[in-house]
Amino acid sequence: MSVVISPSILNCDFAHLGDELAKIANADYAHVDVMDNHFVPNLALGLPVAEAAVAASPIPVDAHLMIEDPDRWAPAYAEIGCASVTFHAEAAAAPIRLARELHAQGTRVGLALRPASAIEPYIDILPEFDMILIMTVEPGFGGQSFLESMMPKVARTRAAIENAGLETWVQVDGGISRATITQAAEAGANNFVAGSAVYRADDAYTEVEELRRLAREASHSH
Ligand code: DX5
Ligand code: ZN
Repeated sequence: MSVVISPSILNCDFAHLGDELAKIANADYAHVDVMDNHFVPNLALGLPVAEAAVAASPIPVDAHLMIEDPDRWAPAYAEIGCASVTFHAEAAAAPIRLARELHAQGTRVGLALRPASAIEPYIDILPEFDMILIMTVEPGFGGQSFLESMMPKVARTRAAIENAGLETWVQVDGGISRATITQAAEAGANNFVAGSAVYRADDAYTEVEELRRLAREASHSH
């Protein structure tokens, strides 16, 4: 399974969005965090900024919707050109219908789980998704510490995917850095969101390369 690096722009300098996106041109996706102050206790980004990111980004945009009522809002993110749209299992009223609607719009579709949500109820519907996002912090803010306790869930998710003969990506988001990416990759994640690790590094480009190297090394070693 290929290693995918998706820096989060949540803590980038929004006054210079184009320059900030240009810094991560060597990554695979630009991860855009959308927060509505209801699903999570923070308000961040929305359609206009996501649309600006799609226009300015040298790489495809991966939208992570931490919002209530994704059934109502998610299709708009596909409409503006996000290459991947992820909504939360806890918030969707009809996740299968929404996944099919997003697929019909031509986007990749992800299903996200908060730390306290189990993967087991979703195992039978894995074929509806291109990616499962296992949150490795409580969603809402960048810069939090990685929850190592999520690694068994990552491993169970990867095992269920392999068992079903699927190619689904497993994304981890929250506290991913040089110090934590190896264990996440060893547990079975192949897609890594890193916000502060990339944007607080002296050189974002080098940080992306280093994270990719560490993840590849860990994926090959098991
Ligand atoms: C948290 C967001 C993350 C966040 C990651 O709710 O979903 O994408 O930006 O930031 P770091 O890498 O700093 O934990
Ligand atoms: Zn995110």
